[in-house]
Amino acid sequence: MLNLTPKRDRPLPKHPSIITDLPGPETKALVERDCSVTSPSYTRDYPLVVARGEGCMLEDVDGNVFLDFTAGIAVTATGHAHPQVVRAIHEQSAKLLHMSGTDFYYPQMVELAEKLAFRAPFPQSSTGNSTRVFFSNSGAESNEGAIKLARYYTKRSGIVAFLGAFHGRTYGAMSLTASKRIQRQGFGPLLPGITHIPYGTHASLDYLEAKLFNTVLPPTEIAAIIVEPIQGEGGYIVPEDGFLARIRDLCDRHQILMIVDEVQSGMGRTGKLFAIQHWDVMPDIVTLAKGIASGLPLGAILARAEIMTWPPGSHATTFGGNPVACAAANVTLELLEAELMENARNMGEELQASLTQLSDKFARISTPRGKGLMVAVDLLDTEGNLDPSLRDRLLTQAFERGLLLIGCGQAAIRFCPPLVVDRQQIAIALEILTELLNSQ
Ligand SMILES: Cc1ncc(COP(=O)(O)O)c(C=O)c1O
Repeated sequence: MLNLTPKRDRPLPKHPSIITDLPGPETKALVERDCSVTSPSYTRDYPLVVARGEGCMLEDVDGNVFLDFTAGIAVTATGHAHPQVVRAIHEQSAKLLHMSGTDFYYPQMVELAEKLAFRAPFPQSSTGNSTRVFFSNSGAESNEGAIKLARYYTKRSGIVAFLGAFHGRTYGAMSLTASKRIQRQGFGPLLPGITHIPYGTHASLDYLEAKLFNTVLPPTEIAAIIVEPIQGEGGYIVPEDGFLARIRDLCDRHQILMIVDEVQSGMGRTGKLFAIQHWDVMPDIVTLAKGIASGLPLGAILARAEIMTWPPGSHATTFGGNPVACAAANVTLELLEAELMENARNMGEELQASLTQLSDKFARISTPRGKGLMVAVDLLDTEGNLDPSLRDRLLTQAFERGLLLIGCGQAAIRFCPPLVVDRQQIAIALEILTELLNSQ
């Protein structure tokens, strides 16, 4: 058996510290064991075996310390093991681990539902009951439920989604997803009635209305349009100005519901609680997960109260809204509002400014795009075309220097650090990237 206790008990440094060859001996041994027992469908860009985390720093099982600009794929909003989140989890788990919010009541779930309802990006009534909340366990499950709700409410079956979208891996969510071929290949038939159009442009919405609606896709048969306010896995793509407002308008004119997938862009990551608020657009349904509970599995569907009218028994899940996850989410929301959303705004500006300087200096990276701490750059070849192999190489080389990054889109690196990241850590990340680009 391996000893997986971290090498040190002292606080982690706020900068990378690589003390072994990578992968280190304990990492190597664990990766070998993993390879023979876990599903080969997992994708690991580099061999990182994590022992503990603190803020933006992670320590591996060999005592190497990394600066984490992935946040466990945009999840650990409050940083790794934020003391207040950890305390809430400890306290709640000593009182009640599970009772199923589907069949019974407990205070943590009601408290979180109230908090989310009061903050939902819908027209608010003075009594605060203009929103209903359904709790799930993941992003896919939130989107799965949103499809069911839209179909149930509108009594229509069609859904419009976007090329490049990622909405999850379960059958309904996978049918909406159009990010990479491997995610669908061999799994059909998928959910019928889903039409994908290009993301983010007015030309695409022109095509939908002028061509598709008048030929193969009667709008009276469409239940919903589902859209990421900033496309995540697809490449951190920010849509053209007016794109989201135009979807709202189109939905209003054809009595179609607007579902906004905020699984990755929500919970303060872009500097506002919901990314859609950057465009002042009010959707009908919002789906959430990832950052909502700082790393505990939780998802949610927020819907306007007049839409979430499905009757008892029509939709439920045993673990959704688990009391420990809700306790973590309640504290997460408090921390986001106290300071972390503002930090995401400020550090996001800092990050984009630094990446802009980098792209002025190196022709191999594009200017940055995104909002708050949801930022990406494309890697380019010497002719200015997207260069996925340079991107992949940089991800590995950054890991070897103690900086954790992940890709998105065809050839992009995304920067989605925990929202506690500071100026110094951004400077360290940029220093490492500069050295790597210099050495290409
Ligand atoms: C926008 C978006 N929606 C849905 C999902 C699926 O979430 P999960 O992996 O929790 O099912 C993801 C995951 O990356 C996502 O980015």
